[in-house]
Amino acid sequence: MLVQFAGEFDRQVTERLGLRRATFVNLAPDSPSSRLDADALRGDAHTMDVADGAFDHVIGHAGLHHCSRPHQALYEMYRIARRTVVSVENQDSPLMRLACSVGLAGVYEHEAVADGGGSTGGVDGTGVPNHVYRWTRHEVRKTIRTFDPGRSVPIEFHAHWLIGTDRALTSGMRALLGEKDSRQSAPRILAGNAINRGLNSVARRQGNIFGFVVRKDLARNQPWIAS
Ligand SMILES: C[S@@+](CC[C@H](N)C(=O)[O-])C[C@H]1O[C@@H](n2cnc3c(N)ncnc32)[C@H](O)[C@@H]1O
Repeated sequence: MLVQFAGEFDRQVTERLGLRRATFVNLAPDSPSSRLDADALRGDAHTMDVADGAFDHVIGHAGLHHCSRPHQALYEMYRIARRTVVSVENQDSPLMRLACSVGLAGVYEHEAVADGGGSTGGVDGTGVPNHVYRWTRHEVRKTIRTFDPGRSVPIEFHAHWLIGTDRALTSGMRALLGEKDSRQSAPRILAGNAINRGLNSVARRQGNIFGFVVRKDLARNQPWIAS
């Protein structure tokens, strides 16, 4: 498998799952957001020098929204994958749009650039904070249909509320959680857990984080395509 936008977190997850044949790629493997150095290849997700279908599975966690052209980067993941693309990203929803408009969720991601000392961690690894590109399910479906119009490709979605534990907290959300800075604290985690439990029990489908699995392995020719 190829792990795009790879960082320490991805290495820990692949180790825990016993996935030994993983290739890690990042635009800046030595940056504070990756910390993989020699363990990772250097590559821009928009233009991967990798053959079509070269990896069975291509996964990416929390990376597409850092790309200046997220659809192009998703296209590259789709092109390189033979069987599945697994992506974990921010989900767009009426609730998230409301949260953004009242300052409880970020429209641009400033914290990652602050963590990078002001010079990395933003869009395409630069010091410019990225727009937090949130996807809807419909948008993912349309995008995949556009990439591969001759085939019907099933997509699985899994959504979950996970607020209060990430770095992209706005000052409004921090104030709600009773905090002055961006460090995670026990009260933040407890408050975040309570909010998440409530939201997951009533509106899980709209969760701010969602994973989608593009099942190329189950793709079928459209009925109007001769096989
Ligand atoms: C929020 S971090 C996520 C790191 C890791 N996947 C994780 O979950 O901890 C986003 C990563 O995407 C990388 N990145 C940003 N733009 C990229 C691009 N155009 N191509 C490849 N990687 C990129 C950054 O260097 C950064 O390490």
